[in-house]
Amino acid sequence: MAMFSKDLGIDLGTNFTRIADSAQVLVEEPTIVAIEVFDQKMVAVGQEARDMYGKVPDSIEVSRPLKNGVIADYEITETLLEYLLQRVSGSMRIFRPRVMISVPYGVTSVERRAVYEAVMEAGTREAFLIQQSLAAAIGIDLPINSPSGNMVICLGGGCTEAAVMAMYGIVSAETLRSGGLDLDDAIVNYVRRKYGVVIGQITAEQLKIRIGAAVPQDTENSMEVQGQDQVTGLPRPITLTTGEIIEALQDPLKQIIETGRKVLEKTPPELVADIIDRGVALCGGGALLRGIDKLLTKSLGIPAYLVDNPMTCVVEGAVKSFSMLNVIRRNLPQV
Ligand SMILES: Nc1ncnc2c1ncn2[C@@H]1O[C@H](COP(=O)(O)OP(=O)(O)OP(=O)(O)O)[C@@H](O)[C@H]1O
Ligand SMILES: [Mg+2]
Repeated sequence: MAMFSKDLGIDLGTNFTRIADSAQVLVEEPTIVAIEVFDQKMVAVGQEARDMYGKVPDSIEVSRPLKNGVIADYEITETLLEYLLQRVSGSMRIFRPRVMISVPYGVTSVERRAVYEAVMEAGTREAFLIQQSLAAAIGIDLPINSPSGNMVICLGGGCTEAAVMAMYGIVSAETLRSGGLDLDDAIVNYVRRKYGVVIGQITAEQLKIRIGAAVPQDTENSMEVQGQDQVTGLPRPITLTTGEIIEALQDPLKQIIETGRKVLEKTPPELVADIIDRGVALCGGGALLRGIDKLLTKSLGIPAYLVDNPMTCVVEGAVKSFSMLNVIRRNLPQV
């Protein structure tokens, strides 16, 4: 039996769920499920469900089962995991995998338990939880096996986590329960306040990704989007610039900086000295925001750099951690 079993890493993120084995990322789908309200039947999962967002009748509900990095809807999460695991493992009754699933550092024991139960119910043989920062550090090959400080900041869709690690464990960390989606919301609010126009969250995300930045850029870009006039309710196109997006993002960016600062404050000075030498690794989709490395370098006084695999390092590290299970196990969150 064990001969056929498989080890998988899972990154159950607010925006994306990723599953990997030791060779590659097998699944990368938006953490979104569409269900028939009447009989709670699943209509679509992942990208297919995301395409329905804001475009379906009341009989179908398109929902994100995770909020700010933690499970908000248990049933839907379990259905999603079961479906995706089924897709990678085939008949799970026979080949039930062993999984390492990431959770934000600052989650409660109830929230941890929910993740554990959901992934076990979804049909796995054995499940371990791992803090997402630790998984990220392993996924980007930081030398966490040594008694010296390594720092990462994970800028996810629903949460932001900064952590310092040494000797296979977390020394200090902070989880901010807000992330990329809150940046999108900040853009929606800015546009409403400034122009009296309502835009959708997905449109706001496109603005952020295409023309957004954390600090002023050499070239200003602009983009036209369709909105809805708040007073007349009629469609109204507006054009936004990079500078405006930077302005819109000020508050959530300050919170991100504050999260990094709090972690450094709690970190023993010897480890801070290592981090000043090595820099802080930025991962998660939010690390792709133009200039966020510059902003964090300047505000934290430590060189911040974008890693090569910002979106997949957590899932890659999760599965890789099986190879060091005997040493890492004592530092994993218990359920
Ligand atoms: N080029 C980009 N610029 C800015 N933000 C980006 C870019 N590309 C992706 N993002 C943002 O990254 C976020 C998704 O990142 P990621 O996949 O790491 O999140 P997640 O793991 O699902 O969430 P979490 O870890 O918080 O639960 C989204 O908010 C998305 O808008
Ligand atoms: Mg994540």
